[in-house]
Amino acid sequence: MKYKRILLKLSGESLMGDKLFGIDNNRLSEYADQIKLVHDKGVQIAIVIGGGNIFRGVQAEQGGMDRTHGDYMGMLATMINAMALQASLESKGIQSRLQSAIEMKEIAEPYIRRKALRHLEKGRVIIFGAGTGNPYFTTDSAASLRAIEINAEVILKGTRVDGIYTEDPEKNPNATKFDVISFDDVYKKGLNVMDMTAFTLCKENRLPIVVFDMDTPGNLNKVLLGEKVGTTVCD
Ligand code: GTP
Repeated sequence: MKYKRILLKLSGESLMGDKLFGIDNNRLSEYADQIKLVHDKGVQIAIVIGGGNIFRGVQAEQGGMDRTHGDYMGMLATMINAMALQASLESKGIQSRLQSAIEMKEIAEPYIRRKALRHLEKGRVIIFGAGTGNPYFTTDSAASLRAIEINAEVILKGTRVDGIYTEDPEKNPNATKFDVISFDDVYKKGLNVMDMTAFTLCKENRLPIVVFDMDTPGNLNKVLLGEKVGTTVCD
């Protein structure tokens, strides 16, 4: 396998599958199958999951709600997804631990970096819920931060698109996909990979990002086999 320790960022919205809201059980199970495949090969896996299928802080602000309040609701939404993912992983026989950035000790361990490392070393999948625990940060920022903290070799950002394009491929059918692109070129070309806070954290810590289509079964395994899937952002 190309990487021994990864941080997998999953999108909450993708968990909806074909539904308009919430969690699609087939999609959830399919994600867990993909994770199991690489876990069985000994890859150490940490996961951060978004909450956009349930609640988005930014939209709440547009509706007149205080941004901070909305962001905390979004963090709770990530915990719902994290718990669903944990249940699905465990139903397939994968040991996992859930750590929350906001203390809710009846349902999850608090985030403790050294404990997270021990879980990884013991072969448990670790899921980090509740984002960074702070408003004004996205779950992409949580993914970058946790990846750096646990010395992950890469962030694998699972999305619905199969990589980074020169332009939005839905608007311009002639847009082409990058296989590899540097952090500097992403800035220069104004490409949208992650929000700037998350992206800068990766750049400053030389943490490569692979953007790939997680909704195609088998893709996670292909990324780890080093196949040409998605786009890699690196120095
Ligand atoms: P090691 O003993 O270090 O190998 O790890 P472990 O996770 O098996 O041990 P621990 O005794 O810490 O945890 C046993 C179970 O309790 C695991 O399922 C943990 O996720 C869970 N657990 C540990 N701390 C907490 C907590 O603060 N809140 C909740 N809800 N569960 C916890």
